[in-house]
Amino acid sequence: MARLRVGVLISGRGSNLQALIDAAAAPDFPAEIVTVIANRPDAYGLARAGGAGLPATVIDHRDFGDRVAFDAALTGTLEEAGVELVCLAGFMRLLTDGFVAHWRDRMINIHPSLLPLFPGLDTHARALAAGVKLHGCTVHFVREVMDSGPIIGQAAVPVLAGDTPEGLAERVLGAEHRLYPLCLRLVAEGRARVVGEAVEIAGAAGSGAQALSMILNPAA
Ligand code: GRF
Repeated sequence: MARLRVGVLISGRGSNLQALIDAAAAPDFPAEIVTVIANRPDAYGLARAGGAGLPATVIDHRDFGDRVAFDAALTGTLEEAGVELVCLAGFMRLLTDGFVAHWRDRMINIHPSLLPLFPGLDTHARALAAGVKLHGCTVHFVREVMDSGPIIGQAAVPVLAGDTPEGLAERVLGAEHRLYPLCLRLVAEGRARVVGEAVEIAGAAGSGAQALSMILNPAA
């Protein structure tokens, strides 16, 4: 079976990119990463891509006059590589409505909270301040409004007494690395379908309307 051609956009550390690289190394994984793009030349994820022998490109947003031109360059590189699905993995640039529309239902993102709670930055500190007892991460199709869009999967972790934002971030990150490959697999297999503004997972138990959810304990 042909594997879905994926382009990954990053801005920094690239640990989620690494999780996707590792998953895609399995011969039965239904997606392959065909290009990695970073908007910062110092993104550590570029070294991870290099280590995996993947083509990696820097498209520095500072080289462009406006967001439209930057996004057009992104689409150009993605389409040259024959990308069918874009995975945002710690990509810290706001995307134009035109870019989002172009890749509608063909672009997914991972966000470090249980959306729709805590869109935006500093999610772990905000979760602690709000006193929630469960926190986690979400993989979703991308829509024009930042950190919104049909949810493919979520993983929850407990918030423990004495947690710091850093400690909580680390626990959530471990969940991210498990969730993102699972969600990419569902999309690549054509099992995650956008219906209205929700995702139905074909073959899931019950009505088939249930998206992927996981609850992870810290020791898992
Ligand atoms: C992750 O927490 C991701 O959810 C968020 O940015 C962070 C990126 O980390 N969007 P990494 O670059 O994948 O290590």
